[in-house]
Amino acid sequence: MAKHDKDATFVGDSRVSAKRIPNISPSYSDFPGKSEAFWPNFLLKEWMVAAVGLIAFLVLTVSHESPLTAKANPNDTSFVPLPDWYFLFLYQLLKYPWAAGDYVILGILGIPGVAFGAMVLVPWLDAGKERRPLKRPVTTGLMMLSLFSIFFLTWAAHDEHVKKHGASHGGAGANAPAAAADPNFKAGDIWTAQASCQGCHGKNLEGTAGPNLQKVGEKYKPEEIKEIITKGKGSMPPGMFKGSDEDLNKLVEYLASLK
Ligand code: HEC
Repeated sequence: MAKHDKDATFVGDSRVSAKRIPNISPSYSDFPGKSEAFWPNFLLKEWMVAAVGLIAFLVLTVSHESPLTAKANPNDTSFVPLPDWYFLFLYQLLKYPWAAGDYVILGILGIPGVAFGAMVLVPWLDAGKERRPLKRPVTTGLMMLSLFSIFFLTWAAHDEHVKKHGASHGGAGANAPAAAADPNFKAGDIWTAQASCQGCHGKNLEGTAGPNLQKVGEKYKPEEIKEIITKGKGSMPPGMFKGSDEDLNKLVEYLASLK
């Protein structure tokens, strides 16, 4: 077809603007050497870049297998499920009183809805010609705020989980060794007197909600065991020990001797 003839102005039809009608892209041929055919030239280039990325991912998955956490343990009532990292910030949001309970609709639909809706509507909300970030303080500011919130909430969720439940994401590790318990192990009298401990660590220290303690003496010094009992650890509450200081020392001594 012929090139656009820029000097030609059609007159006579009042419905047609004499100016250039926006939204009709300029002709391809107006930019010699600066354009290329979408098919196959442009698509082929895109595909090649994508292939490089895909192969890099493949190599990465083969060389670094994704880690498996501990086997699911149905006896473990202290297990705290945690969403995957990319949903942690939404999970954390629902922990705040102003986004939970009576206001949970705000936490589920309100705040995320406004935030993600605004992202979709940016082209209409920020219609100015200016493209430089510093000249668009409102848009740039909101974007920085969202990014900061996402990073902060993700970090807060992770931090809180580690502080409360130990480093193991998804309950792996700390509560897993129940399976390795020795069924022939008989606990000493000092242990059988502690009904509350048995609730979580089992009658014969084999572990239920809490870990197996049959070889806890290998892992901790007496002082450390005493500190765990008095101050608690992870999801083990403090102050579970009932009895005199003397009995506590005996219990600590007994646990420390288990090797
Ligand atoms: C509510 C359940 C519960 C009760 C009751 C409880 N524990 Fe625990 N205990 C746990 C959990 C869970 C852990 C693992 C904590 C962690 O590593 O995050 C633990 C850890 C321990 C450890 C350290 C084990 C290790 O391998 O790290 C010792 C020692 C221990 N408990 C002793 C006791 C004694 C003694 C009592 C009674 C005075 C007791 N526990 C009562 C749940 C409990």
